[in-house]
Amino acid sequence: MIATVNFGYPWWLTYGHLPLVAVSGLLLALGFWRKWPMWTIILLSALFLWSGTALLAARFVLNINGEVALPTESFLRSGTGRVLDLGAGTGRSSIMVLKARPQATLVALDLFGESFEGHFGPSQSPQQRLLANLQAAGVAGRATIVTADVRKLPFEPASFDALVSAYVYEHLNRAGIQQSFAEAARVVKPGGEFLLILIAKEPWLQYTFGPMLMHQGFHGPDWWTARLQEAGFQVIEQGTRPATLYLLARRAL
Ligand SMILES: C[S@@+](CC[C@H](N)C(=O)[O-])C[C@H]1O[C@@H](n2cnc3c(N)ncnc32)[C@H](O)[C@@H]1O
Repeated sequence: MIATVNFGYPWWLTYGHLPLVAVSGLLLALGFWRKWPMWTIILLSALFLWSGTALLAARFVLNINGEVALPTESFLRSGTGRVLDLGAGTGRSSIMVLKARPQATLVALDLFGESFEGHFGPSQSPQQRLLANLQAAGVAGRATIVTADVRKLPFEPASFDALVSAYVYEHLNRAGIQQSFAEAARVVKPGGEFLLILIAKEPWLQYTFGPMLMHQGFHGPDWWTARLQEAGFQVIEQGTRPATLYLLARRAL
């Protein structure tokens, strides 16, 4: 049997609108057939339209359980080096880097605690889930898994060529972000890059999920740039992808 990657984000992030599409569609058909009052038909049509478009957006635009491409080709342009993934989870961001940069190696670091369980559900060995995905993607030979907190990194100074992190810092408070960025600046080599990927505040995301993906609230690129600068990084590129804000920063020499 061929193993497949399963990132394990909850089903409702991809198919959560499906029951609403089915129920509102059925009721709409029944309403037309039984000649229900116009206001019920209008309400049901609105619900059907919203849940249908939200379902398409969640499944095909956010596509959180699908593999994802690097948001910028500028990251690790040399194609080689040792990368640290801060908050690797079940491997989506690690696989993104390892597939795009086939000469690179990567340390996939996560606390594998409450936050992991909150995102991916309980499991006996979260590390094993990450490893299984790295193996299924064919990149496990270039990856190492480390259990640690992004606020206290168990590495020597200047031991990485580059850093990546996707959808993690929204879960930390300001002090935690500052602590972790300082640690990131310590463990990356002078001139090394940090690709920071965050959830973006986009109207279609709010249309689709309402308040369900708010986390600690959304900060804009200026706020993140200021935090990175405080830690000794200079932002050299920023941009957006669906549901995503990214900043590419460089550690001062
Ligand atoms: C939304 S998931 C992102 C996982 C992965 N980067 C991705 O793109 O799918 C957030 C991850 O951050 C991890 N995390 C949260 N706080 C952390 C901390 N203080 N130290 C290490 N990992 C942390 C959680 O365990 C979880 O796996």
